[in-house]
Amino acid sequence: MKILGIAGSPRRGGNTDLLLAEFLRGAASRGAEVKTIVLDQLTIAFCQHCDACLKTGRCKIKDDMQMIYQELEAADGVVLASPIQFASVTGQMKTMMDRCQSLWAKKYVLKIPPLGEGSERKGFFISVGGRRTPSLFEPALAVVKTFFHVLDIKYAGELLFSAVDEKGEIMQHPEALRQAFEAGQKFAAAWQTDS
Ligand SMILES: Cc1cc2nc3c(=O)[nH]c(=O)nc-3n(C[C@H](O)[C@H](O)[C@H](O)COP(=O)(O)O)c2cc1C
Repeated sequence: MKILGIAGSPRRGGNTDLLLAEFLRGAASRGAEVKTIVLDQLTIAFCQHCDACLKTGRCKIKDDMQMIYQELEAADGVVLASPIQFASVTGQMKTMMDRCQSLWAKKYVLKIPPLGEGSERKGFFISVGGRRTPSLFEPALAVVKTFFHVLDIKYAGELLFSAVDEKGEIMQHPEALRQAFEAGQKFAAAWQTDS
């Protein structure tokens, strides 16, 4: 199975990057082919709400999203990793999601599978927030679950860590990294039990 990790943090080697790497290492240990896309290193324009995709199912903006559409289609599993920023996912992650409006159009307007035919895809969310406030992850969870729902990706779980703020601070929580590794193993194993 192919598992695509999408890193939404602007900080390379930050907390969600480290957790995503562990998750994918765990998935690879169970035979998954893994790949990571770092959104901050790409050129992704904002959705212009031009509605061109309502007729074609394709986004007319030619930038790095074209590559991401292909990777999403090729993936069996998608792991989104984003820190909490102003209660939600990062702008990088949300911009990528908004550009999936063309996939929304495929599904709801053109009535075709948003990512094409294929096995049931699964999705996972990894997040870290600097604060420890009640319901810290709720807005981001709503955004992520909506994204997966629109893309017909079955939500398979999340790993959420609060009160982790400094770059790389998650390294001081080996239990969190272990959990990420094991969650990756479990995520990859789901296809073995499905088939
Ligand atoms: C612009 C910005 C907004 C943030 N907003 C929040 C927030 O609303 N709640 C919170 O708990 N932490 C917030 N944080 C802190 C980050 O979630 C935290 O530092 C996290 O560990 C960063 O993860 P990373 O290393 O993967 O980027 C914010 C950080 C930035 C830079």
